[in-house]
Amino acid sequence: MCGIIGYTGPLDSKRILLEGLSQLEYRGYDSAGVALCMENSRIRLIRHTGKVSNLKEGCRKIAETSHCGLGHTRWATHGGVTTENTHPHQAGRITLVHNGIIENYHQLTLDFHLEGKLQSETDSEVAAWVLESLYEGRPLEAISKFVSYLKGSYSFCMMFEDHPGEIYAIRSISPLVAAYTRSGSFVASDLTALIPYTKQYFVVPENHIVRLTSYKVHLYDLHQKETIPEMMEVSWNTDAAMKNGFPHFMLKEIHEQPEALKNTILPRMVRGLPDFTDDQIPDSILEQCSQIHIVACGTAMHAGMVARALMEPLLRIPVTVSIASEFRYEEPLIDSKTLVIVISQSGETIDTLAALRLAKSYGASTLSVVNVKGSTIARESDYVLFTHAGPEIAVASTKAYSVQLAALYMVCCRMALVRGAYGHEEAENFMKELLDAIPAMEAMIEKRDSVKALVTHLINEPDAFFIGRGLDYAFSLEGALKLKEISYIHAEAYAAGELKHGTIALITDQVPVIAIGTQKKVFAKTISNIREVKARGAFIILLVGENSPVEDGIADVIIPIPEVDDRFAVFPVVVILQLIAYYASVGKNLDVDQPRNLAKSVTVE
Ligand code: M6R
Repeated sequence: MCGIIGYTGPLDSKRILLEGLSQLEYRGYDSAGVALCMENSRIRLIRHTGKVSNLKEGCRKIAETSHCGLGHTRWATHGGVTTENTHPHQAGRITLVHNGIIENYHQLTLDFHLEGKLQSETDSEVAAWVLESLYEGRPLEAISKFVSYLKGSYSFCMMFEDHPGEIYAIRSISPLVAAYTRSGSFVASDLTALIPYTKQYFVVPENHIVRLTSYKVHLYDLHQKETIPEMMEVSWNTDAAMKNGFPHFMLKEIHEQPEALKNTILPRMVRGLPDFTDDQIPDSILEQCSQIHIVACGTAMHAGMVARALMEPLLRIPVTVSIASEFRYEEPLIDSKTLVIVISQSGETIDTLAALRLAKSYGASTLSVVNVKGSTIARESDYVLFTHAGPEIAVASTKAYSVQLAALYMVCCRMALVRGAYGHEEAENFMKELLDAIPAMEAMIEKRDSVKALVTHLINEPDAFFIGRGLDYAFSLEGALKLKEISYIHAEAYAAGELKHGTIALITDQVPVIAIGTQKKVFAKTISNIREVKARGAFIILLVGENSPVEDGIADVIIPIPEVDDRFAVFPVVVILQLIAYYASVGKNLDVDQPRNLAKSVTVE
């Protein structure tokens, strides 16, 4: 939810921290701050509400140099958006930044008699005082004791006043990566902050302490025994996390989808068939399960809804989709014959992680579809299918969704093959259709100007509705989420036939209805539903196969979709839905990449 960074080394830490925070800003942008260890070992705090740009402005006046410091960009949880609640927090000799939630902060306040000491409303400052109370001049020992008092999720970066030039860090659940480079030592919430300096990094293992000096990064377990980190290499370069001439990350990421799909699909195709040998996913888990349960949040859950509509009729086994935050508190009907598929771009969404852990406790096989290597969900799943979208920076997910779909379509095809629902030829045809969806997406990206022109019908309206049947309904869910999260237009997705059971009361003159009619089996029914809303004055934008028979006057705007097999229509359709949301946000002059109240990865409940 928040982005944290620590640096110590020969370079100007203020510059490095501010640049790193700009890269991490997508994780939260309510306020930002840095703590700089100055040459006289004094620690200076600079904190500002609002975006990192405000902090940068506030740091301009600082002339002194510093070679060690911490930075934080906040998504507010405990306490409002105020300077006092902005990190870093200081407690006596301790300065720290925190990502996560300390659930027992209230009890800790009482146990450590902290009332009267606290300057902020945050759980993080409580944690800082707890650490200060336990500190006797030996940071490793104090941190080991400190974490034994904490309940919740956290990653902390800490400085101890009497250990200038050193940074300590620890994590439980919340992510943290670290690296030693020629430019110094780094620790951060994610790789985007490190990538300008190195390709070699390690994921800080849970409940391990990192100590950064300007010469080395050390890793210790909680008994203070030094251990060797497992080094990893980043597969993408700095460019991947830059806008590269696009006005927004979201537009860039929409354009990257065809390439991301190829990167996800092609390495896993052997003689025209999906093959997960290199991913070490055995056919047995696909062959022997008696049901599939898909669990995820937000856009990832919508990818699961599409997968369900595809898989169940083909595989003839029950496929259920659950919202992870609900699933984790249910008593799900799953067992060792269930394949639980967990979907997450970040691999760190807390509800999805908890759902994964619950599924494992029931003995289910777990397969995760994850974009971020080394993430907690990837590490804890029995099997992982990594998507190759590269870094997704815009808060609104676009390319992550389409590659999740590509991965799930391949799983579906492999399952059909190993379970006998498909012969080789049918499976090959399925994969061919999947690949054909890529140029169809490219064609839709080329239509961006016509989408841009049509959003004038949306941007002054308070509401919009997305309707469709079958797979088209599953696509609609994602269209509505995209529109509302970045344009703030209230949008709802409805199964087209369900509208008349209540919601049609909201359809009045010029209310925009985005109707999706790509599924031939139910096309005539969808058209009837469109007529129903048209008769009430709705403004209809219809997405339909370019060869589908559409009578005059049924829609106000028609967006023809290239003719692909119905099951693959999501790939071109979603591009249009993303572009509608994108241009609506641009048309309303909103912050496309960093919409209000949101953060990229939701690592708190
Ligand atoms: O990282 P995850 O895929 O687990 O994230 C799940 C959702 O938080 C995410 O898809 C969210 O709904 C997107 N911002 C929507 O665009």
